[in-house]
Amino acid sequence: MDDAPVHARVLVASNRGPVSFTLDDDGTTTMRRGGGGLVSGLSAVVGSRGAGTSEPTGKADVIWACAALTDADRQAARRAPGGRLDLAGHDTGGAAVRMLDIPPPVFHRAYNAIANSTLWFVHHLLYDTPITPNFDVGFRREWDSYRAYNRAFVEALADDAAPGAKVVVQDYHLTLTPGMLRERRPDLRIAHFSHTPWAPPDYYRMLPDEYGREVLEGILGADHAGFLSQRWADAFVACCETFLGARTDGRTVEHRGRRTRIGVHALGIDGPALSQRAGQPDVDGRYAALREIVGDRRLVVRIDRTELSKNIVRGLAAYREMLRTYPEWQGRVVHLAFAYPSRHDLPEYREYTAAVQRIAAEIEDEFGTEDWGPLVLQVNDDYPRSLAAYRLADVLLVNPIRDGMNLVAKEGPILSERGCALVLSREAGAAAELGEDAVLVNPYDISGTARALHGALRMPAEERLERCRRLAATASALPPQRWFADQLAALD
Ligand code: G6P
Repeated sequence: MDDAPVHARVLVASNRGPVSFTLDDDGTTTMRRGGGGLVSGLSAVVGSRGAGTSEPTGKADVIWACAALTDADRQAARRAPGGRLDLAGHDTGGAAVRMLDIPPPVFHRAYNAIANSTLWFVHHLLYDTPITPNFDVGFRREWDSYRAYNRAFVEALADDAAPGAKVVVQDYHLTLTPGMLRERRPDLRIAHFSHTPWAPPDYYRMLPDEYGREVLEGILGADHAGFLSQRWADAFVACCETFLGARTDGRTVEHRGRRTRIGVHALGIDGPALSQRAGQPDVDGRYAALREIVGDRRLVVRIDRTELSKNIVRGLAAYREMLRTYPEWQGRVVHLAFAYPSRHDLPEYREYTAAVQRIAAEIEDEFGTEDWGPLVLQVNDDYPRSLAAYRLADVLLVNPIRDGMNLVAKEGPILSERGCALVLSREAGAAAELGEDAVLVNPYDISGTARALHGALRMPAEERLERCRRLAATASALPPQRWFADQLAALD
């Protein structure tokens, strides 16, 4: 029977899946495919022979388990047999997708309160420590939901996995999944991958001991724990030593008689695919409009989600300080700052968005003239416009206070037409690869960032082009296909 459950030999688990739904007026749902590295990484194995094994590919060789994130997702998941969207007639691009309809209150506590307000804050060092965090009785209830959410993934994966299958579990939403799944299905080969930084032990110890240990032990349920840079891998290993007393030689961690290998897999860009997309007519249209705004002035670009870790406010403060300290730039430069909405369920994010808008207005007020707008802040998400801005940029500013990798820093140089100088935070994972050809900054040092912007704007055209070429080569050296294949290979 065509829609009989089929056991997969490769399974991916992530909170956000490769597709999402919107609700139409007549109550039906419409599916949209997502972008992002994970989707393109998986597309390389889905439908290929054997998905990392030598056996022929079957219909459900690869299953991707994800959570329903919205009401529309839930409806679609409920209508699909066993949550399997591909069996409900959706064309999911070759992957079998199982969307989990986790009860909304459980989902919200797991996603907003634990994943995004606790683990994300810990790994990005975001707490305002005199005030937060507060691990009280409410937190303990939220943690129970985080466990239940992870348990829902474990049940789905355990049901869908063929004997000895490979399971690649993604990110901080699912840290408990490897350990729980190991207990349930000891035959499986499990990898966990962290897309975030990892907190150093002195910050990680803020978590109540039992929860801090639960996260570490959850990940150590995997055979392989992957990170985007050596720095984050080292921090994880240090936490395992400090809080579990685990034994380690740096490349493996041994705990309770099990050994987990630690891997570093940087994630880069599929350069040809990105360039192809950036040459489409919708991008060309935006390109012309942006050119009109910029005129013959120099252009500084930044593109981020409006995310606390992205450090947009200090980035704008640095631009302001540059205009004050090096007034020769007044009237001669424009800063395009694209700050797209993100996680607006969280009050900290709403307040941060307001702070970004406040400082943008101050800059406009201080410097704007009749024929010169020093700053263009755009908060509506427009992907083709972002691609157009990359093409035009003279300087790209990427100054997160901490970032697992940061793909903006990699996309920009690939698309830049005249060669852009990259001003990059030394706290981004990407700095490990791009540091030599970027201008590195301490993200808290506003004066240092202002100087770096000034220097980048003054960099001789030839040097800029040369550096940009090397940045682009490095950025596309490890495309998502390779990154994903490496994770699978690590389980052999
Ligand atoms: C960024 C991070 C990922 C994370 C994702 C979640 O891309 O680098 O580590 O999984 O955000 O974003 P979301 O919008 O799904 O909360």
